[in-house]
Amino acid sequence: MASKHSLKRNFKVFVVLFSLLISYGIQTAHAQSSAVPTDPKIISAGEELFKQNCMSCHRVQTQLVGPALKGVYDIKDLSWIYTFVKNPQKVIDSGDEYAVELYEKFKPTVMTSFSTFSDEQILSIMAYIKDQTDNPPAAAASTSGGGDMKAQPAAIPTPYVNAIIIGAVIILIVLLVVLVMIVNTLRSFLSQKDLSPEDAEFVAKPAGLATALRNKALIGIVTAVVTAVVVKGVIDSLYNVGVQQGYAPTQPIAYSHKIHAGQYKIDCNYCHTGVTKSKNANIPSPNICMNCHSVIQKGTNTGTAEIDKIYKAVETNTPIKWVRVHNLPDLAYFNHSQHVAVGGVECQTCHGPIEEMEVVRQYSNLTMGWCVNCHRETPLNTKGNGYYDKLVEIHEGKGDFTVAQNGGIDCAKCHY
Ligand code: HEC
Ligand code: HEC
Ligand code: HEC
Ligand code: HEC
Ligand code: HEC
Ligand code: HEC
Repeated sequence: MASKHSLKRNFKVFVVLFSLLISYGIQTAHAQSSAVPTDPKIISAGEELFKQNCMSCHRVQTQLVGPALKGVYDIKDLSWIYTFVKNPQKVIDSGDEYAVELYEKFKPTVMTSFSTFSDEQILSIMAYIKDQTDNPPAAAASTSGGGDMKAQPAAIPTPYVNAIIIGAVIILIVLLVVLVMIVNTLRSFLSQKDLSPEDAEFVAKPAGLATALRNKALIGIVTAVVTAVVVKGVIDSLYNVGVQQGYAPTQPIAYSHKIHAGQYKIDCNYCHTGVTKSKNANIPSPNICMNCHSVIQKGTNTGTAEIDKIYKAVETNTPIKWVRVHNLPDLAYFNHSQHVAVGGVECQTCHGPIEEMEVVRQYSNLTMGWCVNCHRETPLNTKGNGYYDKLVEIHEGKGDFTVAQNGGIDCAKCHY
C-alpha cells in the first residue's frame, strides 16, 4: 500500500512541475510575440520595407538565399535582431554561437548590413513577419498559386470520344448477333407448326446476315455513318494543323518552374517583367538569374552542371537560346498587359499550372475558337477602372457585360 501512495504523490509533484515548466515556456514566448506590434499601419510600413530590402533573399514561410523568417522574434530576442540586422558580419565575428551557426549554414552569403535602419523600422518588419506567420496567405499567393481554371471551355477529350464510339460499335455488333439468334430460334419453332402456305413461305425465307446485307435501307444507313465519321476525321485533322497543344520542348538549361515558381514561390513578374506592362511577357535575361545564382551555385538535383551554363552565358555575353513554347501566327494580335493588368486574368487560366511544371508545356490550344469562347463567357473586369465607368452606367442591370459585348469578337480587334 505504501508504495502505491508514494507513486501517487510522485505523480502529483510531476504534474505541478510540468505545468510550471509549460506556463513558463508560454510566458516567455508570449513576452516576445506580444512585444511585436499588431497595428495594421505598422504592419504595412514593415511590409514595404521588407519588400524593398529583404525580399530578394528572404521569404517568411520558406528558405531562399537566407532562412525563412517566420517566428524569428520567438527564437531570438528583439535587441539581438536589431543588432544583427544593422551589422550581421559584426555579430558573426563576435563569435555569437547562434549567428556563427547560421553563417555556416548559409555561407558564402553574408547578409547585407542595414546600418541606417532604426529599431522602429526593424520592429515594423518584424510586425509584418509576425502577421505573415500568424496568417499565412491562403492559396499561396494569387499570382503563383493553383490558379483557377474556370474559363477553360468544356470539351470532351478525344481519347474519350474514341472510346465511346468503339464501345457503341461493340454493343451494336453484340445486339445484331443476339437478334439473328432470336430469329433463328423463332423460325425453327414456327416451322414445326401448321402454317398457311403464305406464312410458311415467309418463314422459309432466309433471314441471316446475307439478307440483311441485301437490304437497301440498311446499306444506306451504313454508308451515311461511315461517310460522316470519315468527314469528321478529316475536318478535325484540318483544324489541328498548326495547333501545338501539349508542346514541351527540351530547353538549353534545365530550368524548372516547379522549383522557382512552385517551391520557392518566386513571383512570375520577377522574371516575366513585361507581363503587366506590354504585349510580351519577356523571357528573363541571364542577369536576372544571377541575382540569386551568384550565390546559389549548386542545385539539389543537377549540382553545378546546369547552373554553370548561366555563368558561361554571362561570362561570354551570349544570350541563352530558350526554345519558344507558345507562338501565335503573326496574323493574330495578342497583348499580355490587356489580359493580366486590365482584364485581371490569371496566368494559370491560359497557361495551366506552370508552377507544377518541370518543363513548360503549351496547356491551351491557342486557336481562334479558344480566344473567342473566353471573350463570350468572361465578364469585363470593370471594377475600379475609370475607363469603363460610362459603359457600366449604360449597361446597369442587364446582366454580365462580357468582353464580346464590348467588341471583343470583332475581327479587327485581333486581326489588323
Ligand atoms: C543578400 C541577402 C540578404 C538580404 C538582402 C537580407 N538578408 Fe537577412 N539573412 C541573409 C542570410 C544569408 C542570413 C543567414 C545568416 C548569414 O549567413 O549572414 C540571414 C539572416 C537573417 C536573420 C536571422 C534569421 C534567423 O533564423 O535567426 C534575420 C532576422 C534577418 N536575416 C533579417 C533580415 C531583414 C529584416 C532584412 C531586410 C531589412 C534582411 N534580412 C535582408 C541574407 C539576407
Ligand atoms: C526565375 C525566373 C522565372 C519565374 C519566377 C517564372 N518564370 Fe516562366 N520562364 C522562365 C524562363 C527562363 C523561361 C524560358 C524557359 C522555359 O520555357 O522553361 C520561362 C518560360 C515560361 C513560359 C513559356 C514561354 C514560351 O516560350 O512560350 C510561360 C508560359 C511561363 N514561363 C509562365 C510563367 C508563370 C505563369 C510564372 C509564375 C507562376 C513564371 N513563368 C515564373 C523564367 C521564370
Ligand atoms: C529569386 C532567386 C532565383 C532566381 C532569380 C533564379 N533562381 Fe534558379 N534557383 C533558385 C533556388 C533557391 C534554387 C534551388 C537551389 C537548391 O536546389 O538548393 C534554384 C535552382 C536552380 C537550378 C538547379 C535546380 C536543381 O535542383 O538542380 C537551375 C538550373 C536554375 N535554378 C536555373 C535558373 C535560371 C536559368 C534562372 C534565370 C532564368 C534562375 N535559376 C533564376 C533561386 C533563383
Ligand atoms: C488570356 C490568356 C493569357 C494569359 C492570362 C497569360 N498569357 Fe502568357 N501567353 C498567352 C498567349 C496566347 C501567348 C503567345 C503569344 C504570342 O505568340 O504572341 C503567351 C505567351 C507567353 C510567354 C512567351 C513569351 C511572350 O511574351 O510571348 C510567356 C513568358 C508568358 N506568356 C507568360 C505569362 C505570364 C507570366 C502570365 C501571367 C502574369 C501570362 N503569360 C498570362 C496567353 C496568356
Ligand atoms: C481566359 C479568357 C481569355 C482568353 C483565353 C483570351 N482572352 Fe482576350 N480578353 C479577355 C478579357 C477578360 C479581356 C478584357 C480586358 C479588358 O477589361 O479590357 C480581353 C480583351 C482582349 C482584347 C481587347 C478587346 C477590346 O475590346 O479592346 C483583345 C484584342 C484580345 N483580348 C485578344 C485575345 C486573343 C488574340 C486571344 C487568343 C490568343 C485571347 N484574347 C484570349 C479574356 C481572354
Ligand atoms: C479574340 C481574337 C480573335 C477574333 C475576334 C477573331 N480572330 Fe481570327 N484568329 C485569331 C487567332 C488567335 C488565330 C490563329 C489561330 C491558329 O493559329 O490556330 C486566328 C486565325 C484566323 C484565320 C485563319 C488564318 C490561318 O492562316 O489559319 C482566319 C481566316 C481568321 N482568323 C479570320 C477571322 C475573322 C473573319 C474574324 C471575325 C469574324 C476573326 N478572325 C476574329 C483570333 C481572333
